Amino acid sequence: MDDEHFYEMKSGHGLSHDPFKAIVAPRPIGWISTRSPEGRANLAPYSFFNALGESPHIVGFSSYGYKDTVTNVEKTKEFVFNLATRELAEKVNITSYAAPYGINEMQLAGLEAVPSRLVNVPRVRDSPAAFECRLLSVTHLHDIDGNPTKSYLVLGQIVAVHIKRKFITPEGLFDTAAACPIARCGYLGDYTDVNHLFYMRRPADDNAELVEAVKQLNEKDQQ
Ligand SMILES: Cc1cc2nc3c(=O)[nH]c(=O)nc-3n(C[C@H](O)[C@H](O)[C@H](O)COP(=O)(O)O)c2cc1C
Repeated sequence: MDDEHFYEMKSGHGLSHDPFKAIVAPRPIGWISTRSPEGRANLAPYSFFNALGESPHIVGFSSYGYKDTVTNVEKTKEFVFNLATRELAEKVNITSYAAPYGINEMQLAGLEAVPSRLVNVPRVRDSPAAFECRLLSVTHLHDIDGNPTKSYLVLGQIVAVHIKRKFITPEGLFDTAAACPIARCGYLGDYTDVNHLFYMRRPADDNAELVEAVKQLNEKDQQ
């Protein structure tokens, strides 16, 4: 099709930059705190991050390279997700600094740390929400030819949740727009934030128009 730019991965994208991360956008940021077995705190943002399941609630992130966060998680089997917000954005960025192992990025960014309850990992005091997580798995990812990649996928199960009361509405909802989470977009330095929502309900199973449309498609199939 002439109106499409097509490429096979093995031939390269042919653009000025790889569009992959601009297409999978926005990506939520897992602002992950951990602790080394010696007790040193660590904090870093991971935007290859998402919620991956509920009941139980599972989150995951991937590290390009075996970074300090993965080292700590694999050793201690626990981590904390802190919500990265517009108000904290500049500090989130500072915590991405490639500090030597053992340096506490919370201190580097001037963030106050508070203890968690079920895991021995500090969390960011000013973050509107935090998930205490226990490790499910660390997987060294391999490509389709079976070759090891540089990526490590960490999955964790949420065992406890902290939410600042001011972000809970009188109806008992977490006010996402008020918390204003930031997310990574495409190229170097591109971000967005969630400061408004729009509403759309899923079609009901008995939605008359869709029931009729499905019926007609079925009839066509049988012709
Ligand atoms: C917003 C943002 C998102 C990032 N996402 C990732 C990611 O998904 N995976 C990754 O390996 N590094 C990512 N980085 C870079 C890491 O944060 C950086 O390498 C950091 O130093 C890792 O810290 P650690 O070694 O203490 O774990 C990101 C950086 C920023 C600013």
